[in-house]
Amino acid sequence: MTKKKIDVRDYAGEIVRAMQPGILLTTKVGDKVNSMTIGWGTLGIIWEKPVFVAYVRQQRYSRQMLDQCREFTINVPLGDYDRKILGICGSKSGRDIDKIEAAGLTLVAPEVIGVPGLKELPLTLECRVLYRQEQESHLFNDEITRKFYTIETGDHICYYGEIVSAYIIED
Ligand SMILES: Cc1cc2nc3c(=O)[nH]c(=O)nc-3n(C[C@H](O)[C@H](O)[C@H](O)COP(=O)(O)O)c2cc1C
Repeated sequence: MTKKKIDVRDYAGEIVRAMQPGILLTTKVGDKVNSMTIGWGTLGIIWEKPVFVAYVRQQRYSRQMLDQCREFTINVPLGDYDRKILGICGSKSGRDIDKIEAAGLTLVAPEVIGVPGLKELPLTLECRVLYRQEQESHLFNDEITRKFYTIETGDHICYYGEIVSAYIIED
């Protein structure tokens, strides 16, 4: 399997458009690899570095994994892919099942960090967490609170990941 290196700025449009219906955020702790579907994310430049910010609710298993490994990969579909992947990774928890197996995902050895990429969603960003920020509910605009947050849902934690490698996985 080969990897075509990319400049992430050339694919910003594809990445942002793919967030609806969803892309994957993957973490790894020990031998356990887990992917979750995300629909929210920010791509840009912070601290003179290319950064992807992921917004992960406090109660997610992926949040626990992220706090341990402090690294994640983002995988974005290009062209055709099996939509059930996003369904499984966006509705089941890695606490309960092995989603890599359930979704039929193929792990691809990473270049820089310890978390693998995914062949089926070939555009891959390897990210190292630079900063973790817990959102403070009293600072939300009322409209945002009403629409997105209750005691049960919990707030989001923002993970600012420096993009240390970006490529497309090819056969
Ligand atoms: C289309 C879609 C987008 C989602 N976006 C997010 C997101 O940006 N942040 C988040 O915390 N959960 C998001 N979710 C929910 C998680 O993917 C879902 O709760 C998942 O089961 C969590 O997996 P985990 O428990 O293995 O971490 C999304 C779900 C779907 C279907």
